[in-house]
Amino acid sequence: MSTAEVTDTRFSLSQADIPSAWFNVAPHLSSPLDPPLHPATREPVGPADLAPLFAEELIGQEMSADPWIDIPGEVLDVLRLWRPTPLVRARRLEAALGTTARIYFKDESVSPAGSHKPNSAVPQAFYNAREGIKRLATETGAGQWGTALSFACAQYDLECAVYMVRRSFEQKPYRKVIMETWGGTVVPSPIDDPDNAGSLGAAISDAVRDAVGRDDTHYALGSVLNHVLLHQTVIGLEAQQQLAMAGETRPDVVIAPCGGGSNLGGIALPFLPDPAVRLLAAEPASCPTLTQGTYEYDFGDTAGLTPMMNMYTLGADFMPPGIHAGGLRYHGDSPIVSKLVHEGRMEAVAHRQRAVFEANVLFARVEGKLPAPEAGHGIASVIAEAKDATAKGEDRVILFNYCGHGLLDLAAYQEYLAGDLAEEP
Ligand SMILES: Cc1ncc(COP(=O)(O)O)c(C=O)c1O
Repeated sequence: MSTAEVTDTRFSLSQADIPSAWFNVAPHLSSPLDPPLHPATREPVGPADLAPLFAEELIGQEMSADPWIDIPGEVLDVLRLWRPTPLVRARRLEAALGTTARIYFKDESVSPAGSHKPNSAVPQAFYNAREGIKRLATETGAGQWGTALSFACAQYDLECAVYMVRRSFEQKPYRKVIMETWGGTVVPSPIDDPDNAGSLGAAISDAVRDAVGRDDTHYALGSVLNHVLLHQTVIGLEAQQQLAMAGETRPDVVIAPCGGGSNLGGIALPFLPDPAVRLLAAEPASCPTLTQGTYEYDFGDTAGLTPMMNMYTLGADFMPPGIHAGGLRYHGDSPIVSKLVHEGRMEAVAHRQRAVFEANVLFARVEGKLPAPEAGHGIASVIAEAKDATAKGEDRVILFNYCGHGLLDLAAYQEYLAGDLAEEP
C-alpha cells in the first residue's frame, strides 16, 4: 500500500488537549437524584455524615450542581503520564465482522494500572492528601481499582490499605505484587471469614470499618458514586474531540461494561445531552443488576455501613458466582446510571462468560490487544450492534470503552482456551 492510501486508525490528542474540567451530568438529568439516606436514621445524609469517610472537596463534588468542575493542576500533572488516551478505529474488527458499522474504541488500557481506574484514583488521593489525610482504605474486586489507588497514593505520599475480594485475590496473584510495588498493602476479604469467596459489598464493609476506626484514614470508592463518574468523564470528553478528528459528527451508540458504572459513565455521560446518541450498558448474566435487579433504596455494602442509595440492586447480600470479570461482581449500581436506565435513556444487556471470552479472543486476534474480562462484556455488545447494523444496512458509528487490558487475567484465558471455562449460572 502506498503512503497516500494509508487510512488513519489512531486519533491522538496532544498533551495540551487534556480536558481542564470534568463534565457534571447533574444539571442534565430529568430531575435531581434521590438523596442518599443515613443507614441508621434513613434520613437524607448531609456533608457532616460523610466527613469521617471522604475529603470535603469530594463530598462537595458528590452533591454539586455546577455544570463543570475544574481539574486541579496537580491532578493534571499526574493524568498527563498517560492522558490523553488514543481513540482507535477498529478497522480489522470491522473487516473480520464484514460489518457496515464504523467501530471506535477509547483505549483506557494504557494507564499505569492498565485500566480507566486511575482517572478517579488520582484526584481522590490528591484531595485527601491536601486535606491532611495520611492513609486511604479501599476495596477491590478484580484488583484494578486497588492497583490504581496504590499508584495514586504513591504520587501524593499516602499509605494505601486494600481489601481484595478473596476469590480475585486467589485468581490474580500478580495484582498484589503490583499494588505492593507501589507501596499498597493487600489483604483478602472478608477478613474474618477465610472460607468465604467474598464480594465487593463485603470488601467495602471491611474498608469502611478500617477508615472509621482511624483518624488518619479516609475511605475511597472506585465506582458507583457521583464524584467517581465525574472524574471519569475525561474519557468521553476526549473521545468527543477525537471523533471529530476522525470526521464523525457523533456516535450512534456508546457502549461500555458496567460494574458500578464508572467507566460507562465516564465515556457515556458527556454524550447524554445529545438525544440522538444511544447509551448502552453491558453486564454479566451472572450478576444482572440492571437487567434483573429492582430499582430501590439499598445499602452499598453487605454489613449495612454505607448510606442507602436509590439504585438497581440484586440485594446487598447477593453473592455473585466467581466469574473472572471480578470488577463486574457488584450487587448495586451507580445511582446516575440506574436513573438513566430506569427512565429508558440508557439500555442494558447481559452477557454470559463464555460469549465474553469468545469476543475477547476475536478482538485479540484481529486488533492485537488482549482485553480484561470486564472489557469483553462491552466487546460482546459491540459485535452484536455491528451485526445488527449490517443486517439493516446501516453505517452505524459505534464507540466503546476499552476499559482495561487482561494481561493479568491470563489464568482466565488459559481456562477458556483449554475449554475449561465455567459457563457460570
Ligand atoms: C477493567 C475494568 N473494567 C470495568 C470495571 C467495572 O467497574 P466500573 O463499572 O466502575 O467501570 C472494573 C472494575 O474493577 C475493571 O477493573
